[in-house]
Amino acid sequence: MEYYEYASFPENFLWGGSTSAYQVEGAYNEDGKGLSVQDTKEVNTEITDFKVASDHYHHYKEDIALFAEMGFKAYRFSIAWTRIIPNGTGEINEKGIEFYSNIIDECLKYGIEPIVTMYHFDLPDVLNKLGGWSVPETSAAFVEYGRILFEHLGDKVNYWLTINEQNMMILHGSAIGTANDKASNVKKDLYQQNHYMLVAQSKVMKMCHDMCPHAKIGPAPNISEVYPETADPKDFIAAQNLNAIRNWLYLDVAVYGRYNPIALAYLKDRGYAPEITEEDLEVFKSGKPDFIAFNYYNTSTAAHSSFKDKVVGPEDGDQQIELGEKGVYKAVYNQYLERTNFNWEIDPVGFRATLRSVYERYGLPIIITENGLGEFDELTSDKKVHDQYRIDYLKAHISEMKLAISDGVDVFGFCPWSAIDLISTHSGVKKRYGFIYVDRDEFNLKEMNRYKKDSFYWYKQVIEMNGKVL
Ligand code: BG6
Repeated sequence: MEYYEYASFPENFLWGGSTSAYQVEGAYNEDGKGLSVQDTKEVNTEITDFKVASDHYHHYKEDIALFAEMGFKAYRFSIAWTRIIPNGTGEINEKGIEFYSNIIDECLKYGIEPIVTMYHFDLPDVLNKLGGWSVPETSAAFVEYGRILFEHLGDKVNYWLTINEQNMMILHGSAIGTANDKASNVKKDLYQQNHYMLVAQSKVMKMCHDMCPHAKIGPAPNISEVYPETADPKDFIAAQNLNAIRNWLYLDVAVYGRYNPIALAYLKDRGYAPEITEEDLEVFKSGKPDFIAFNYYNTSTAAHSSFKDKVVGPEDGDQQIELGEKGVYKAVYNQYLERTNFNWEIDPVGFRATLRSVYERYGLPIIITENGLGEFDELTSDKKVHDQYRIDYLKAHISEMKLAISDGVDVFGFCPWSAIDLISTHSGVKKRYGFIYVDRDEFNLKEMNRYKKDSFYWYKQVIEMNGKVL
């Protein structure tokens, strides 16, 4: 839609940036931290592991000072469960509490709002060995972990995020390292994990409201609108299928307290449906989010699929789009979209579409907790990084977010990925996202010096002008 007059970003819009603990902190076994599944998972030997990462653990003051210089109004980071409770349950590690308390204080010193993710892919390894999310004990352990966070840090935090990209942990659990590949029926097991996470999430949201009435809390899935490949009505049904299974399944439980009917029909038919008790349904009704946070990188495109299909993904076997499923949808590349050097589709207009869909469907305020471009950056001999491609990417996405605001969508913050360079989940250090360059290579840690990229100066201006000039 075009308008005669366009809206501006609201006053107090939370411009910021994001990171996650295991990708940025390093110090994987320091000061009493226990191991998480990200510390113990096997990594491809061509890329770095997460043990040192960007060494934010030792550089956090310098890093947050740089965020403040950029003008950040918010910093979204995650807490490593294993820094707080090294074994997942039981003894609390005071040093862990102290570290996050310091991070929060450092943010508050500069007037930066801390936006805290409770869990970002780094399940305590001890809990994983005891069955991970496949057993209800982990769900109970997460709730207890939440109680400890609210008790020790709750007075200083106004925005909590429960679980980062729960939907990606279910749909791509093996790649992320959170699937139980030994289960007799891996997919059924994943959907049982999903259910236990949803129960834990609702309990934690209720607890947050009870223990920290000043604070707001919400889920943080990865959401992407799904297009039909063509106007063939069968392709449209395929797109609805993927939307239900990829996106709405997760948010419908969080917001409406019930499973999405299309997703549930699919789960039952395929024998993947979790056990859902009456008590669980009560829990879903009692703990609701105040807002929706979501990560957006691109849209998905789906075509009709029947049980007879032999191939349901791209013929080159590339895995950078959804995986496709016989009788549900075929995953296809969108012919209208360009791709990054890592083969991820780029779709700023789809960002507007996704914002509109989420807001129309749930009517809750939205904060974007990830969006950004992973690229091969180059540090020049005079210590500059000319990342105009990142500026172009973010400019296009912020412009479309502004249009979504004109469409009536209530967006209250934008925290792109990533505030500073960190280790990519799948591609090591070579795939960089930050506004700040961290000088290390895949295996040579160097001095870990920080350098401001061109995008740093550009984003600083965007924030100064509250998005009026991009
Ligand atoms: C999101 C995750 O899925 O995408 C981040 O929340 C991740 O942890 C980001 O790093 C980008 O993915 P990748 O694979 O390029 O690091």
